[in-house]
Amino acid sequence: MENYLDYWEDIFASQGWGAYPPEELVRTIARNFRKVENKSSIKILEIGCGPGPNIWYLVREGYSVAGIDGSKTAIAQAQQRLEKEGLPSLPPSVDLKVGNFVNLPWPDDYFDAVIDVEGLYANKFDDIKTVVHEVKRTLKKGGFFFGKMFGDKTTGSDSGERVGDRTRLNPTQGPCSGNAVAHFFNKNDLQLIFQDFDELKIDYSLRTEQEEKIDIFEWLVWAKY
Ligand SMILES: C[S@@+](CC[C@H](N)C(=O)[O-])C[C@H]1O[C@@H](n2cnc3c(N)ncnc32)[C@H](O)[C@@H]1O
Repeated sequence: MENYLDYWEDIFASQGWGAYPPEELVRTIARNFRKVENKSSIKILEIGCGPGPNIWYLVREGYSVAGIDGSKTAIAQAQQRLEKEGLPSLPPSVDLKVGNFVNLPWPDDYFDAVIDVEGLYANKFDDIKTVVHEVKRTLKKGGFFFGKMFGDKTTGSDSGERVGDRTRLNPTQGPCSGNAVAHFFNKNDLQLIFQDFDELKIDYSLRTEQEEKIDIFEWLVWAKY
């Protein structure tokens, strides 16, 4: 498989990144785990965690947190932030790994939740299908996946080089402009890749930027196994 991860390594090595989690993630975690007293008993994995805005939030909340990202710079930044703030940063509380999330280096039946905040979309569709199988393998029965991913109504989804249905190399417009690869999901894609899950709930959020010139359409996916 081609390696598109160098693109992200260059981004994190050369520019700053958002520090805080999206509200949809905060809401999902609260809805599912608010009542759990011993939060460290809940294991949550983020695929494509980048420099760790979501990892930071989950660790602060007291969960046992794992993360994987292809960028060693991003993983180092995530680790440094936790250390700087005096938060747990090492196993067993926090387990951050550099690697391609097409293979998840964790056992079967292990996580209570796996989350993705705009990491999965940055792959080709065949790899995305493999990742979702891996997610299901590592989830405990009764666990869930939560994801936020760009949809095909996002500005720029028809720009760049087409390499598959809704998959583009180097989009030239919109929020994914310059990305090495981006898959802009439609609803059927989501229904297909999550077909082996027991429950699937799909919503979306649509916002604009640059005085309504850019549409950012993101699917919000909750899939229970
Ligand atoms: C748009 S960034 C999102 C980062 C983070 N989730 C956040 O909310 O800020 C996409 C991230 O996914 C990672 N990524 C994409 N595909 C990957 C893959 N196949 N394996 C590992 N990391 C991947 C990139 O390295 C990058 O950190």
